[in-house]
Amino acid sequence: MASSSTIQPMMLLISLIVSTLLIASSANFYNDVDITWGDGRAKILNNDNLLTLSLDKASGSGFQSKNEFLFGKIDMQLKLVHGNSAGTVTAYYLSSQGPTHDEIDFEFLGNLSGDPYILHTNVFSQGKGNREQQFYLWFDPTADFHTYSILWNPQRIIFSVDGTPIREFKNLESSGVPYPKSQPMRIYSSLWNADDWATRGGLIKTDWTQAPFTASYRNFNADACVVTNGKSSCGASGSSAWFSQELDSTGKERMKWVQKNYMIYNYCADTKRFPQGLPPECNLA
Ligand SMILES: *[C@@H]1O[C@H](CO)[C@@H](O)[C@H](O)[C@H]1NC(C)=O
Repeated sequence: MASSSTIQPMMLLISLIVSTLLIASSANFYNDVDITWGDGRAKILNNDNLLTLSLDKASGSGFQSKNEFLFGKIDMQLKLVHGNSAGTVTAYYLSSQGPTHDEIDFEFLGNLSGDPYILHTNVFSQGKGNREQQFYLWFDPTADFHTYSILWNPQRIIFSVDGTPIREFKNLESSGVPYPKSQPMRIYSSLWNADDWATRGGLIKTDWTQAPFTASYRNFNADACVVTNGKSSCGASGSSAWFSQELDSTGKERMKWVQKNYMIYNYCADTKRFPQGLPPECNLA
């Protein structure tokens, strides 16, 4: 009886400590990622709070998360290659392994100074993608850091930029559209040369006199279920709002605004590409 008044502050204290630990560990690239590629071109700096990837004529670079996730809300701030970034691609995505892998993609296609980057998105389920949507951004993504988020829960995937939803991929399994929901995914990112296709379809080549090209990352935060040895642990975040989150009316309005004003390619509108008919999710959305 007398204990309830002492237990509650203690619980509060414990949950405060736990959440502080979670936040502290989530901002530390040294603990959270492995540099997988680039022979010193990827660097972790500023007390492990900043990560930079670079690209020169000899190689690009990349990293991946140590953890594998099955659902989560994953935020990262990126500042993209500035100046003449034509020909370069910065990829930032979630992916599982194998021939029937799932994947949730952000890809940033560079451009000549002053010309707009393309933000390319895609969703793979059971090894099948072909669900590209592309956007211009409503700001210069090279001038400062901006937050790129993936919300992935059992009902939907929502891509957001600075909190503004730009794309939603719903779970339409009941209508026969495979949905990523059982293969754990890692976060991957890389900066590489793709001047055979990236900028105006490969017309503009990488200007190597501008190398090295650099992209920066900070404030990584994964509020997610982590899979270790086949066991999923959602920790303190298991009860978090993201697990059942959906777009509210403001979110829907914002997404409409982005898609109306900034979407430059939508596979669901590409009837030429799908002469046998658009993919089923296009007609169900
Ligand atoms: C680059 O700029 C041109 C001209 O504005 C534009 O057509 C193109 O979509 C931009 N982005 C890329 C990645 O090519």
